[in-house]
Amino acid sequence: MKCRRAVVKLGGSVITVKDKPETVNPEAISYTSRTLADHYGTGGELIIVHGGGSFGHYAVKKIIQEKGRLDVSDAPLIQASMLRLAGKLLGSLLEEGIPATLHPAHTLCGDSCSLEPLVRDLGAGLAPVTYGDAVVTSRGVYILSGDDLAADVSIAVGADCLIYATNVPGVLKAGGEVVRILYSDAIHIANGVSGVDVTGGMARKVKAAIRVSDVIGNVRIIHYRDLPQALAGLDVGTRVLKK
Ligand code: IPE
Repeated sequence: MKCRRAVVKLGGSVITVKDKPETVNPEAISYTSRTLADHYGTGGELIIVHGGGSFGHYAVKKIIQEKGRLDVSDAPLIQASMLRLAGKLLGSLLEEGIPATLHPAHTLCGDSCSLEPLVRDLGAGLAPVTYGDAVVTSRGVYILSGDDLAADVSIAVGADCLIYATNVPGVLKAGGEVVRILYSDAIHIANGVSGVDVTGGMARKVKAAIRVSDVIGNVRIIHYRDLPQALAGLDVGTRVLKK
């Protein structure tokens, strides 16, 4: 079934060039924006969450390399880097005709997240956008992953689809074959896939997907090129299902 209300997480490795500091991937940004616009244009509701790629992750790594830790005073630089990326994506979404509204996660989240502004905008016919961010909590600064945020958002807005768009065809077996269905009791798989970034790569994605798979009917990890099919409700990538 076509997604009625979809939360789409655009991975940082999709919309940026991961090994080039603060560099976007313009082709991927315009492809995903066009795809989302087509879906929106045919009545689909959208909430877009994106990752950090060579913006946020790079900023975090640089600070950690320089001084070995992250302090609250480092949050503004990371937030500014993420805001630059969000601005670029937002520009592209608006250009394609999606009424996208920006909600930086550091303004929504602290010790917990208050996602009501996203629900409100969605109810007004807009397409809220948020992203993984440096969040200030009572215990210091925290790098909130867009994967976890997308899962929380999908619950808050009552989404029927949660789609993680990546640059691999799904969760891969050792031989490179796509896992078609990943059941929620297969948490060992999440522990077995290696993470390459500061918030944990594919393992975190799988865990976040599993966490909400009992509530959200259609949870998938896909290649971003398959986004039109995933939004149409077709069986692409890895489906994460409640056992
Ligand atoms: C990370 O968000 C945000 C920061 C590093 C500030 P994600 O963890 O969702 O980013 P990607 O998708 O892996 O790049």
